[in-house]
Amino acid sequence: MKLAILSRNASLYSTRRLVEAARLRGHSVRVLDPLRCYMRIAPEGFAMRYKGRPAAGYDAVIPRIGASITRYASAVLRQFELMGCYTPNPSDAILRARDKLRAHQLLAAQGIGLPATVFGDNPDDTADLLSLLGPPPHVVKLSEGTQGAGVMLTEKLSASRAVVETLRGLYANFLVQEFVAEAGGADLRCFVVGDRVVAAMRRQAAEGEFRSNLHRGGEGSPAEASAEEQAVAVRSARALGLGVAGVDLIRSVRGPLVLEVNSTPGLEGVETACRVDVAGAIIDHVDSQYSLYKTMG
Ligand SMILES: Nc1ncnc2c1ncn2[C@@H]1O[C@H](COP(=O)(O)OP(=O)(O)OP(=O)(O)O)[C@@H](O)[C@H]1O
Ligand SMILES: [Mg+2]
Repeated sequence: MKLAILSRNASLYSTRRLVEAARLRGHSVRVLDPLRCYMRIAPEGFAMRYKGRPAAGYDAVIPRIGASITRYASAVLRQFELMGCYTPNPSDAILRARDKLRAHQLLAAQGIGLPATVFGDNPDDTADLLSLLGPPPHVVKLSEGTQGAGVMLTEKLSASRAVVETLRGLYANFLVQEFVAEAGGADLRCFVVGDRVVAAMRRQAAEGEFRSNLHRGGEGSPAEASAEEQAVAVRSARALGLGVAGVDLIRSVRGPLVLEVNSTPGLEGVETACRVDVAGAIIDHVDSQYSLYKTMG
Protein backbone atom coordinates (compact mmCIF):
# COMPACT_ATOMS: atom_id res chain seq x y z
CA MET A 1 0.00 0.00 0.00
CA LYS A 2 0.94 3.59 -0.52
CA LEU A 3 -0.14 5.35 2.66
CA ALA A 4 -0.46 8.95 3.73
CA ILE A 5 -0.81 10.04 7.33
CA LEU A 6 -2.43 13.42 7.79
CA SER A 7 -0.68 14.90 10.79
CA ARG A 8 0.64 18.30 11.76
CA ASN A 9 3.88 16.88 13.08
CA ALA A 10 5.81 13.77 12.05
CA SER A 11 7.61 13.65 15.38
CA LEU A 12 4.48 13.13 17.50
CA TYR A 13 4.45 9.73 19.20
CA SER A 14 1.28 8.46 17.47
CA THR A 15 2.44 9.58 14.04
CA ARG A 16 5.90 8.08 14.51
CA ARG A 17 4.45 4.75 15.60
CA LEU A 18 2.09 4.57 12.63
CA VAL A 19 4.97 5.31 10.23
CA GLU A 20 7.10 2.68 11.94
CA ALA A 21 4.35 0.02 11.85
CA ALA A 22 3.59 0.74 8.18
CA ARG A 23 7.27 0.49 7.14
CA LEU A 24 7.71 -2.71 9.14
CA ARG A 25 4.95 -4.23 7.02
CA GLY A 26 6.54 -3.10 3.76
CA HIS A 27 4.16 -0.23 2.96
CA SER A 28 5.30 3.11 1.64
CA VAL A 29 4.19 5.90 3.94
CA ARG A 30 4.39 9.67 4.00
CA VAL A 31 3.31 12.19 6.61
CA LEU A 32 1.41 15.14 5.14
CA ASP A 33 0.70 18.28 7.13
CA PRO A 34 -3.00 18.86 6.39
CA LEU A 35 -2.48 22.62 6.55
CA ARG A 36 0.04 22.39 3.70
CA CYS A 37 -2.39 20.43 1.50
CA TYR A 38 -4.31 22.58 -0.96
CA MET A 39 -6.74 21.55 -3.59
CA ARG A 40 -8.59 22.20 -6.77
CA ILE A 41 -12.25 21.35 -6.79
CA ALA A 42 -13.96 21.06 -10.15
CA PRO A 43 -16.64 18.83 -11.64
CA GLU A 44 -14.15 17.23 -14.01
CA GLY A 45 -11.86 16.17 -11.20
CA PHE A 46 -10.27 16.71 -7.81
CA ALA A 47 -6.61 17.57 -7.42
CA MET A 48 -4.45 17.81 -4.33
CA ARG A 49 -1.13 19.61 -4.07
CA TYR A 50 1.44 19.53 -1.32
CA LYS A 51 4.29 22.03 -1.06
CA GLY A 52 4.29 22.71 -4.80
CA ARG A 53 3.87 19.15 -6.00
CA PRO A 54 0.93 16.86 -6.71
CA ALA A 55 -0.12 14.68 -3.78
CA ALA A 56 -1.72 11.77 -5.59
CA GLY A 57 -1.61 8.01 -5.88
CA TYR A 58 -2.23 7.24 -2.21
CA ASP A 59 -4.19 4.06 -1.61
CA ALA A 60 -5.18 4.96 1.93
CA VAL A 61 -5.09 7.98 4.21
CA ILE A 62 -4.93 7.78 8.00
CA PRO A 63 -6.11 11.05 9.55
CA ARG A 64 -4.62 12.32 12.82
CA ILE A 65 -6.54 15.55 13.03
CA GLY A 66 -6.36 17.81 16.06
CA ALA A 67 -9.53 19.54 17.26
CA SER A 68 -8.27 23.03 16.38
CA ILE A 69 -7.96 22.22 12.66
CA THR A 70 -11.06 20.04 12.27
CA ARG A 71 -12.72 22.15 9.60
CA TYR A 72 -9.85 22.55 7.16
CA ALA A 73 -8.30 19.14 7.72
CA SER A 74 -11.61 17.34 7.24
CA ALA A 75 -12.00 19.13 3.89
CA VAL A 76 -8.52 17.89 2.94
CA LEU A 77 -9.48 14.37 3.97
CA ARG A 78 -12.74 14.58 2.00
CA GLN A 79 -10.77 15.61 -1.07
CA PHE A 80 -8.64 12.47 -0.72
CA GLU A 81 -11.81 10.41 -0.37
CA LEU A 82 -13.20 11.99 -3.55
CA MET A 83 -9.92 11.09 -5.27
CA GLY A 84 -10.59 7.44 -4.39
CA CYS A 85 -8.43 6.94 -1.30
CA TYR A 86 -9.59 4.57 1.41
CA THR A 87 -9.68 5.89 4.97
CA PRO A 88 -10.66 4.10 8.19
CA ASN A 89 -12.05 7.37 9.57
CA PRO A 90 -13.93 9.28 6.87
CA SER A 91 -14.31 13.05 7.12
CA ASP A 92 -18.02 12.83 7.87
CA ALA A 93 -17.40 10.40 10.73
CA ILE A 94 -14.80 12.74 12.25
CA LEU A 95 -17.25 15.65 12.02
CA ARG A 96 -19.97 13.56 13.70
CA ALA A 97 -17.65 12.65 16.57
CA ARG A 98 -16.35 16.20 17.03
CA ASP A 99 -19.83 17.62 17.46
CA LYS A 100 -20.72 16.48 20.98
CA LEU A 101 -24.43 17.12 20.72
CA ARG A 102 -24.71 15.30 17.43
CA ALA A 103 -22.58 12.40 18.68
CA HIS A 104 -24.73 12.03 21.81
CA GLN A 105 -27.90 11.99 19.68
CA LEU A 106 -26.51 9.39 17.28
CA LEU A 107 -25.30 7.14 20.10
CA ALA A 108 -28.56 7.37 22.05
CA ALA A 109 -30.49 6.62 18.85
CA GLN A 110 -28.62 3.29 18.70
CA GLY A 111 -29.65 2.51 22.27
CA ILE A 112 -26.13 3.06 23.61
CA GLY A 113 -26.02 4.09 27.28
CA LEU A 114 -25.01 7.67 28.11
CA PRO A 115 -25.24 9.78 31.25
CA ALA A 116 -28.56 11.69 31.01
CA THR A 117 -27.67 14.82 29.04
CA VAL A 118 -29.48 18.12 28.43
CA PHE A 119 -28.68 21.20 26.44
CA GLY A 120 -30.55 24.31 25.48
CA ASP A 121 -30.10 27.75 24.01
CA ASN A 122 -32.30 30.30 25.73
CA PRO A 123 -31.56 31.51 29.29
CA ASP A 124 -35.31 31.71 29.97
CA ASP A 125 -35.36 27.92 29.79
CA THR A 126 -32.52 27.19 32.21
CA ALA A 127 -34.67 26.24 35.21
CA ASP A 128 -36.84 23.84 33.21
CA LEU A 129 -33.81 22.50 31.35
CA LEU A 130 -32.12 21.54 34.62
CA SER A 131 -35.33 20.02 35.93
CA LEU A 132 -35.16 17.50 33.05
CA LEU A 133 -31.99 16.15 34.57
CA GLY A 134 -32.99 15.19 38.05
CA PRO A 135 -31.39 16.48 41.23
CA PRO A 136 -27.72 17.58 41.46
CA PRO A 137 -24.80 16.95 41.50
CA HIS A 138 -24.52 17.81 37.83
CA VAL A 139 -21.59 17.87 35.45
CA VAL A 140 -21.42 20.92 33.18
CA LYS A 141 -19.17 20.54 30.13
CA LEU A 142 -17.99 23.03 27.61
CA SER A 143 -18.50 21.68 24.10
CA GLU A 144 -14.99 22.73 23.11
CA GLY A 145 -13.26 21.39 26.23
CA THR A 146 -10.64 18.67 26.13
CA GLN A 147 -8.41 16.96 28.66
CA GLY A 148 -10.82 17.74 31.45
CA ALA A 149 -10.61 21.53 31.13
CA GLY A 150 -14.11 22.95 31.04
CA VAL A 151 -15.69 20.06 32.95
CA MET A 152 -17.28 21.22 36.20
CA LEU A 153 -19.09 19.47 39.01
CA THR A 154 -21.94 21.38 40.67
CA GLU A 155 -23.29 20.03 43.93
CA LYS A 156 -26.32 22.30 44.25
CA LEU A 157 -29.01 23.43 41.86
CA SER A 158 -28.09 27.08 42.51
CA ALA A 159 -24.51 26.29 41.45
CA SER A 160 -25.69 24.51 38.28
CA ARG A 161 -27.81 27.53 37.42
CA ALA A 162 -24.99 29.99 38.12
CA VAL A 163 -22.48 28.05 36.00
CA VAL A 164 -24.96 27.74 33.13
CA GLU A 165 -25.73 31.47 33.30
CA THR A 166 -22.03 32.33 33.34
CA LEU A 167 -21.34 30.17 30.31
CA ARG A 168 -24.23 31.72 28.43
CA GLY A 169 -22.82 35.14 29.21
CA LEU A 170 -19.58 34.03 27.55
CA TYR A 171 -21.48 32.64 24.54
CA ALA A 172 -19.97 29.23 25.23
CA ASN A 173 -21.61 26.01 24.08
CA PHE A 174 -22.09 23.43 26.81
CA LEU A 175 -24.10 20.46 27.92
CA VAL A 176 -25.20 19.38 31.38
CA GLN A 177 -25.20 15.77 32.59
CA GLU A 178 -26.18 13.75 35.58
CA PHE A 179 -23.13 13.02 37.75
CA VAL A 180 -22.37 9.31 37.82
CA ALA A 181 -20.93 9.10 41.34
CA GLU A 182 -20.37 5.36 41.37
CA ALA A 183 -17.78 5.72 38.59
CA GLY A 184 -15.51 6.74 41.49
CA GLY A 185 -13.43 9.11 39.38
CA ALA A 186 -12.44 6.36 36.95
CA ASP A 187 -13.13 5.86 33.30
CA LEU A 188 -12.24 3.20 30.78
CA ARG A 189 -10.60 4.10 27.48
CA CYS A 190 -11.40 1.37 24.96
CA PHE A 191 -9.26 1.54 21.86
CA VAL A 192 -11.39 0.28 18.98
CA VAL A 193 -9.86 -0.87 15.70
CA GLY A 194 -12.41 -2.27 13.25
CA ASP A 195 -14.75 -4.59 15.07
CA ARG A 196 -12.73 -5.16 18.21
CA VAL A 197 -11.23 -3.50 21.25
CA VAL A 198 -7.46 -3.95 20.84
CA ALA A 199 -6.54 -2.40 24.19
CA ALA A 200 -8.29 -0.98 27.22
CA MET A 201 -6.92 1.38 29.81
CA ARG A 202 -8.45 2.37 33.11
CA ARG A 203 -7.84 5.96 34.14
CA GLN A 204 -8.23 6.83 37.78
CA ALA A 205 -8.59 10.43 38.92
CA ALA A 206 -6.17 11.85 41.45
CA GLU A 207 -7.31 12.04 45.08
CA GLY A 208 -10.09 14.62 45.51
CA GLU A 209 -10.70 14.96 41.75
CA PHE A 210 -13.57 13.44 39.72
CA ARG A 211 -11.96 13.90 36.31
CA SER A 212 -9.75 11.01 35.32
CA ASN A 213 -7.87 12.80 32.53
CA LEU A 214 -4.14 12.09 32.55
CA HIS A 215 -3.60 15.84 32.10
CA ARG A 216 -5.41 16.37 35.41
CA GLY A 217 -3.17 13.99 37.30
CA GLY A 218 -5.14 10.84 36.49
CA GLU A 219 -3.27 7.58 36.25
CA GLY A 220 -3.58 5.01 33.48
CA SER A 221 -3.30 1.27 33.97
CA PRO A 222 -4.08 -1.71 31.75
CA ALA A 223 -7.62 -2.98 32.16
CA GLU A 224 -9.85 -5.81 31.10
CA ALA A 225 -12.96 -4.52 29.32
CA SER A 226 -15.93 -6.85 29.87
CA ALA A 227 -17.70 -8.40 26.89
CA GLU A 228 -20.51 -5.86 27.36
CA GLU A 229 -18.07 -2.93 27.52
CA GLN A 230 -16.28 -4.12 24.39
CA ALA A 231 -19.57 -4.48 22.55
CA VAL A 232 -20.67 -0.97 23.58
CA ALA A 233 -17.33 0.51 22.50
CA VAL A 234 -17.43 -1.19 19.09
CA ARG A 235 -21.07 -0.20 18.53
CA SER A 236 -20.28 3.41 19.49
CA ALA A 237 -17.46 3.67 16.95
CA ARG A 238 -19.68 2.09 14.32
CA ALA A 239 -22.62 4.40 15.11
CA LEU A 240 -20.42 7.35 14.16
CA GLY A 241 -18.75 5.56 11.24
CA LEU A 242 -15.25 5.38 12.75
CA GLY A 243 -12.92 2.43 12.06
CA VAL A 244 -10.43 3.67 14.65
CA ALA A 245 -11.69 5.30 17.85
CA GLY A 246 -10.98 5.84 21.51
CA VAL A 247 -14.24 5.22 23.33
CA ASP A 248 -14.40 6.52 26.90
CA LEU A 249 -16.82 4.68 29.18
CA ILE A 250 -17.74 4.99 32.81
CA ARG A 251 -18.96 2.06 34.82
CA SER A 252 -22.37 2.75 36.32
CA VAL A 253 -25.01 0.70 38.13
CA ARG A 254 -26.95 0.58 34.85
CA GLY A 255 -23.96 -0.68 32.87
CA PRO A 256 -21.35 1.07 30.75
CA LEU A 257 -22.12 4.69 29.82
CA VAL A 258 -20.30 6.39 26.97
CA LEU A 259 -18.71 9.77 27.69
CA GLU A 260 -16.96 10.39 24.44
CA VAL A 261 -15.88 8.85 21.16
CA ASN A 262 -12.51 10.24 20.14
CA SER A 263 -11.73 10.10 16.41
CA THR A 264 -8.01 10.79 16.86
CA PRO A 265 -7.12 8.80 19.97
CA GLY A 266 -3.53 9.07 21.16
CA LEU A 267 -1.40 5.94 21.07
CA GLU A 268 1.20 6.77 23.68
CA GLY A 269 -0.95 6.31 26.79
CA VAL A 270 -2.45 2.95 25.75
CA GLU A 271 0.65 1.49 24.17
CA THR A 272 2.70 2.33 27.24
CA ALA A 273 0.12 1.22 29.81
CA CYS A 274 -1.07 -1.91 27.97
CA ARG A 275 2.07 -2.92 26.05
CA VAL A 276 -0.01 -3.55 22.96
CA ASP A 277 1.06 -2.74 19.40
CA VAL A 278 -1.92 -0.53 18.64
CA ALA A 279 -0.17 1.12 15.67
CA GLY A 280 0.36 -2.31 14.10
CA ALA A 281 -3.31 -3.19 14.63
CA ILE A 282 -4.36 0.04 12.88
CA ILE A 283 -2.09 -0.60 9.87
CA ASP A 284 -3.28 -4.23 9.59
CA HIS A 285 -6.88 -3.04 9.74
CA VAL A 286 -6.29 -0.41 7.04
CA ASP A 287 -4.54 -3.04 4.90
CA SER A 288 -7.41 -5.53 5.08
CA GLN A 289 -10.12 -2.90 4.63
CA TYR A 290 -8.27 -1.35 1.71
CA SER A 291 -8.16 -4.75 -0.04
CA LEU A 292 -11.93 -5.06 0.42
CA TYR A 293 -12.46 -1.48 -0.77
CA LYS A 294 -10.39 -2.13 -3.90
CA THR A 295 -12.16 -5.36 -4.85
CA MET A 296 -15.59 -3.76 -4.32
CA GLY A 297 -14.57 -0.89 -6.64
N1 LIG B 1 -21.36 12.53 33.89
C1 LIG B 1 -20.22 12.23 34.54
N2 LIG B 1 -20.24 11.58 35.70
C2 LIG B 1 -19.08 11.29 36.37
N3 LIG B 1 -17.85 11.60 35.93
C3 LIG B 1 -17.77 12.25 34.76
C4 LIG B 1 -18.94 12.60 33.99
N4 LIG B 1 -18.54 13.22 32.88
C5 LIG B 1 -17.20 13.28 32.93
N5 LIG B 1 -16.71 12.70 34.06
C6 LIG B 1 -15.28 12.59 34.42
O1 LIG B 1 -14.62 13.74 33.93
C7 LIG B 1 -13.64 13.39 32.95
C8 LIG B 1 -13.61 14.42 31.83
O2 LIG B 1 -14.85 14.46 31.16
P1 LIG B 1 -14.96 14.32 29.56
O3 LIG B 1 -14.18 13.16 29.08
O4 LIG B 1 -16.41 14.34 29.23
O5 LIG B 1 -14.33 15.69 29.08
P2 LIG B 1 -12.90 15.99 28.44
O6 LIG B 1 -11.96 14.87 28.69
O7 LIG B 1 -12.52 17.35 28.87
O8 LIG B 1 -13.25 16.11 26.95
P3 LIG B 1 -13.17 15.03 25.81
O9 LIG B 1 -12.96 13.68 26.44
O10 LIG B 1 -14.52 15.18 25.17
O11 LIG B 1 -12.04 15.48 24.98
C9 LIG B 1 -14.04 12.01 32.48
O12 LIG B 1 -12.92 11.30 32.00
C10 LIG B 1 -14.65 11.38 33.74
O13 LIG B 1 -13.62 10.88 34.59
MG1 LIG C 1 -12.32 12.80 28.09
